[in-house]
Amino acid sequence: MNSVATHSLARASAVPSLTRLIEADADLLSAQLQQLRARAFPPTAEKQLRKFMAGEAAKLIGISDAYLRLLASEGNIPEAEKNGAGRRLYSLEQIHEIRAYLSANKKGYSPRRMENEALQVIAVTNFKGGSGKTTTAAHLAQYFALRGYRTLAIDLDPQASLSALFGIQPEFDLGANETMYGAIRYDQQQRALSDIIRKTYFTGLDIVPGNLELQEFEHDTPRILSEKRNREQMFFTRIATSLSSVDKDYDVVILDCPPSLGYLTLSALCAARSVVVTIHPQMLDVASMSQFLHMTAGLFDVVEKAGGNAEYDFFRYAVTRYEPSDGPQGQIVGLLKSLFGERVLTNAMVKSAAISDAGITKQTLYEVGRENFTRATYDRAIESLDSMNGEIEMLVKQAWGRKT
Ligand SMILES: Nc1ncnc2c1ncn2[C@@H]1O[C@H](COP(=O)(O)OP(=O)(O)OP(=O)(O)O)[C@@H](O)[C@H]1O
Ligand SMILES: [Mg+2]
Repeated sequence: MNSVATHSLARASAVPSLTRLIEADADLLSAQLQQLRARAFPPTAEKQLRKFMAGEAAKLIGISDAYLRLLASEGNIPEAEKNGAGRRLYSLEQIHEIRAYLSANKKGYSPRRMENEALQVIAVTNFKGGSGKTTTAAHLAQYFALRGYRTLAIDLDPQASLSALFGIQPEFDLGANETMYGAIRYDQQQRALSDIIRKTYFTGLDIVPGNLELQEFEHDTPRILSEKRNREQMFFTRIATSLSSVDKDYDVVILDCPPSLGYLTLSALCAARSVVVTIHPQMLDVASMSQFLHMTAGLFDVVEKAGGNAEYDFFRYAVTRYEPSDGPQGQIVGLLKSLFGERVLTNAMVKSAAISDAGITKQTLYEVGRENFTRATYDRAIESLDSMNGEIEMLVKQAWGRKT
């Protein structure tokens, strides 16, 4: 045996194969994560939504605090729980009940869509990782649910960060066929979407969770495309077709797309009536912006050429993690607005420790109460989120042909 062979043999016995090494590392990490999670979120402790102060509840319903007090004193609405300081607290379920009570007598209190108003499917997308898609999608879905829209959030990212935000641990809480993949797969194991949808601790907000299984769609699709007889199974119709089976149950659907240009994203864009492209202005210098737009155009071109939906109710750029005091960011946002006018949402989502801190504990800012932050920090962040989401709500209402 020559010396090289002896050397590599010695190495082979001393160092395990790379595959086994990585697998062992993955197992170690997974066990550690499970332990950490078990401590932070005991398996039996399901996530619960906090209660809302009377003022918050009144604002969500769209009435004055005084009117809510009057309704409570008349005894026609559910009785509020009182906190230690004697202040009234309402659950989201109660808020929905009050809205239903009011809308029975007077139109306008329930925002639900009418028969002639189409299910509004909004894709939150950008193939750039970390541009704020999931944060935007989660807050948007919760915003709509808090205001009484029947909302469905769909996690299309195999990384499943949206599911994690909703307290679903993709590796532990999901079995096979329990993601959107189950509803859009091409084989006999396809299931009804209604069997996959889960209720969340937000009354009126349902979720289709995601996990790595979604990646299968990226592998299956090229194979199906190569079999000509399967044209009616074209990938771009899969999500739309599946959604049509639950059309009657929802007003708004929010799709959280993966950070890639794959078939899931294309299928999501074809199912969408509206698109929100998240942009973190720091990632884009002027030079890379045009490249970014060419890629966006290329994506939509693929969709159109494939015969997919090319008509959208609205298409908007949403500026995320914005730091108004950062000069270069301001310049990029200014440029975006001067070039694209109203296609850039007027209200940006500001960068805020309140939003990232809430994220660390797997919550959105709508879940964390004001008492957990300094008032100024909380107010600035929530105002920014409400303004951006309110703008999108307005666009949805316009798409429905309502006077706004
Ligand atoms: N407004 C904000 N203020 C502070 N931190 C934020 C804000 N928005 C998002 N973040 C943080 O930035 C990170 C990336 O955000 P997010 O996960 O929403 O991006 P994404 O586009 O979904 O990423 P991916 O491409 O990996 O899916 C997260 O850690 C999130 O907590
Ligand atoms: Mg994401």
